[in-house]
Amino acid sequence: MGKIIGILTSGGDTPGSNAAIRAFGKAALSCYDMNIIGFRDGFRGLMENNFIRLDNKSLSGILTLGGTILGTSREKPFRMMVDGHEQDMTDRIEKNYRLNKLDALVCIGGNGTQKNAYHLAQRGLNVVTLPKTIDNDVAKTDMTFGFDTAMSIATEAIDRLHSTASSHQRIIVVEIMGHKAGWLALSAGIAGGADVILIPEIPYDTGKISESILERKKQGKSFSIIAIAEGAISRDFKEIYSKLQQKIDASTDESSREKLKTERNELDVLKASNTIRLANRLQELTGLETRVTILGHLQRGGTPSSADRLLATRMGTACAKFISKEEYGVMVALQKNSIVAVPLEKIVGKTRKVPDDHQWIKSARRLGTCFGD
Ligand code: F6P
Repeated sequence: MGKIIGILTSGGDTPGSNAAIRAFGKAALSCYDMNIIGFRDGFRGLMENNFIRLDNKSLSGILTLGGTILGTSREKPFRMMVDGHEQDMTDRIEKNYRLNKLDALVCIGGNGTQKNAYHLAQRGLNVVTLPKTIDNDVAKTDMTFGFDTAMSIATEAIDRLHSTASSHQRIIVVEIMGHKAGWLALSAGIAGGADVILIPEIPYDTGKISESILERKKQGKSFSIIAIAEGAISRDFKEIYSKLQQKIDASTDESSREKLKTERNELDVLKASNTIRLANRLQELTGLETRVTILGHLQRGGTPSSADRLLATRMGTACAKFISKEEYGVMVALQKNSIVAVPLEKIVGKTRKVPDDHQWIKSARRLGTCFGD
């Protein structure tokens, strides 16, 4: 009898997830005679032993579907809400893995999922992961699936905002997803011709942004588009945040540490409305009417692009091959256009950020794009 493999999707849903499930499933069934069970709603399904059998019929017709047929959640095996409080459910998960006689578990997700999968690998489960996130910020892979679709959606939004910004001679600030890394705002900003691009990796100076907008106005361009990543912060904010973090790290007394952490949480809440505060300030500084568009979850919805379907298919089928060779504890990655297996310990705890000297940044700077620095 062939191997029995469990599969789940975890973290934020991403276009291309179904293409990956289909690719893995079809290759596993037809090339390696494996049996596949799909756990529902991420690691919760494995904890509750809630699964469906995946066969050729259920894997058909899902290539172009957005979301994930398995459902997803951001639940962590070691901190799961059960009976009203957070509990470590790793033992139960391990028990269900053994109960179903699984030979391996495929986990599809972003950085959080890589961490959770690694946790299970350390407990002796055979795990293989696939990198899916619109943020494109998983270490050791040149691309994650979902990114290309989200980039196209954000680019189209910027295209559409151009005509309305120009007609009304306004500044439009468009917020694009990406808390820790600015790949999406940067790529869509360049592809959509944004005049200002703000990403978490380059803290901005509001004065510099306003100067660049006024300079455009002098040149007869009385509208501007600003593409801002949701995690972009000003230099001032960064300074306050870093100082607070240093204090937390240095604090030895439990109660003052808790107080400082509360302060940090308050700052995080403030950070969530950064884009709106920036827009208000730019209106004051430039005298130009300013509007905000927050793209939010639109970027994760709908049909995956052809590039994402292709990448998810390459990764999904390679995953079946790695499992057939019992190569476990790895993530399937794209490196220099080849699909490779990377040990999970090289990935976990790292976020792939945009380097300052990245080609995309250099190109945009040559065009005169302002990064607020
Ligand atoms: O990790 C993907 C992502 O879409 C981020 O870009 C965004 O910050 C976050 O998820 C939003 O999470 P949620 O869907 O839980 O609101």
